Amino acid sequence: MAGPRCASEVRPAAFIAVFWAFFATGSSTAQVPLLIWSSDGLPPLAVPAAGHITSHDQLTSYLTAAFGHSPHTVLLFLQDKLSKDDFTVFGGVFGNKQDSAFKNLEAALQSSSSSVTLPALEWSGSSAILTLLQEKLGVSPLLVDADTLSHLSINTSVSNLLLINLPYCTGSHKSCMEVLHNNDEIIGKVLNIMKAKNVQYTAIYTGLQPSRVIPETSVSDQSVGRSLLQAADTVREPIMFNVSGAPCIMLWAQNLNVKLSDASAWIDLAQQTPSLEGSICNGSNSQLVLTYTSGLTLSFAMTRRFYRVSARNWFTLDSVQLQSNGLTASYTGSRGIYAPAEYSFHCQSVTNFQNALLVPNNTNQNTSQWKLNFTDFQIQGFGLANGTNFSYASDCAGFFTAGIWMGLLTSLLMLLIFVYGLHMIMQLNTMDRFDDPKGPSISVPQSE
Ligand SMILES: *[C@@H]1O[C@H](CO)[C@@H](O)[C@H](O)[C@H]1NC(C)=O
Ligand SMILES: *[C@@H]1O[C@H](CO)[C@@H](O)[C@H](O)[C@H]1NC(C)=O
Ligand SMILES: *[C@@H]1O[C@H](CO)[C@@H](O)[C@H](O)[C@H]1NC(C)=O
Ligand SMILES: *[C@@H]1O[C@H](CO)[C@@H](O)[C@H](O)[C@H]1NC(C)=O
Ligand SMILES: *[C@@H]1O[C@H](CO)[C@@H](O)[C@H](O)[C@H]1NC(C)=O
Repeated sequence: MAGPRCASEVRPAAFIAVFWAFFATGSSTAQVPLLIWSSDGLPPLAVPAAGHITSHDQLTSYLTAAFGHSPHTVLLFLQDKLSKDDFTVFGGVFGNKQDSAFKNLEAALQSSSSSVTLPALEWSGSSAILTLLQEKLGVSPLLVDADTLSHLSINTSVSNLLLINLPYCTGSHKSCMEVLHNNDEIIGKVLNIMKAKNVQYTAIYTGLQPSRVIPETSVSDQSVGRSLLQAADTVREPIMFNVSGAPCIMLWAQNLNVKLSDASAWIDLAQQTPSLEGSICNGSNSQLVLTYTSGLTLSFAMTRRFYRVSARNWFTLDSVQLQSNGLTASYTGSRGIYAPAEYSFHCQSVTNFQNALLVPNNTNQNTSQWKLNFTDFQIQGFGLANGTNFSYASDCAGFFTAGIWMGLLTSLLMLLIFVYGLHMIMQLNTMDRFDDPKGPSISVPQSE
């Protein structure tokens, strides 16, 4: 019985947080660069004067003009971090160097029929650009990489928002030059796939947040000693549960952090190899049970159902369970963890606290302190028959943005006004007839 109560406690808190963030970020002066180019033409934009900071509103009105009425396919290359300095240090876009990390990007800008460069766009939070594009295009983003894109059939009679996440140098195993060069290769690959598919597109390259350029030399020095350790990290395979030799459930996460009491340390289960005993897979239910030698068991239960309303199969992640020493805590998605059955589900952050996606559905004094914090989490429990790669992902990123809340609130307000008005009109009508039952009926003048 405690489940719904908890859920309703979480939502107002998150709601306030979203609104606070929405208003608080207005005063920020941080900037990210943003490049737009298109294979089928963009409206012109006066070249911003040197040092001019483009405001979020200016970008909004520009994108409104660019994505007017007809459907558009938009590729959003969203790098974890990006600053103008990255171009001057590592590339030729602003600096005109021969040895550039952005060769494919430069080629794309030059060969496209139109392009717009905003060296300094006012940065108003990491979800701003995604939210804005979602609003302008009226679709949710689809997280893709080059491999999934090549298998994806794009329906150009509707708008599409394809999100390609790119990493930024974290000062660890790779030099910045290398990371940005790899990103540039990915951009080149994706654009070639679009060309091969003969799909007209508009591409945007920007950063989730501003970066600070890390001096190249210090990075290389540090990286030598740690490279072996980091290499193990980067090649980690997804966890696969196979039935008769073919994968049937796959899970990947950068971190699967759990903590059993406030005093204890976080344990990252993603660094350990679990046994998959007890996992099951049949057409309608999939359960992944990960048993770790440390005594912890993490399990994910998924079902596939046909929803008549959408005329398609959806999968839902029904519960996430953590077991330790005979105690079990079970959580469900606070705002529905679901995706079309043939998709995977991806979420950058899955936690049971602080803007929680997971809410407990059994409370127990002994497990109420348990904390889960999964990052870059991806799971798929159905439709893996064709291989060992995740299908394209339904992303949780866009579901809880300020924009959506504003939309919901506005609709609610309109509905209230409408219901109130309707109520008034119906009352009026009854009173008239009551006063004079034999009188002429009310005639409403027609406007045509
Ligand atoms: C593309 O989407 C439109 C609108 O949803 C639909 O009518 C059409 O059948 C789709 N085309 C393909 C090839 O899926
Ligand atoms: C599951 O199947 C995939 C592909 O057939 C294979 O690469 C992987 O090693 C298998 N995993 C296990 C645990 O058998
Ligand atoms: C799949 O497994 C679940 C749970 O074990 C069971 O309830 C369900 O009937 C099974 N479905 C099929 C199609 O076998
Ligand atoms: C919780 O822990 C206490 C003390 O360790 C124990 O007495 C109690 O039985 C536990 N409760 C449950 C529901 O396991
Ligand atoms: C969750 O874990 C990630 C990676 O370890 C960390 O960066 C992040 O701050 C954690 N989130 C919270 C809310 O503690």
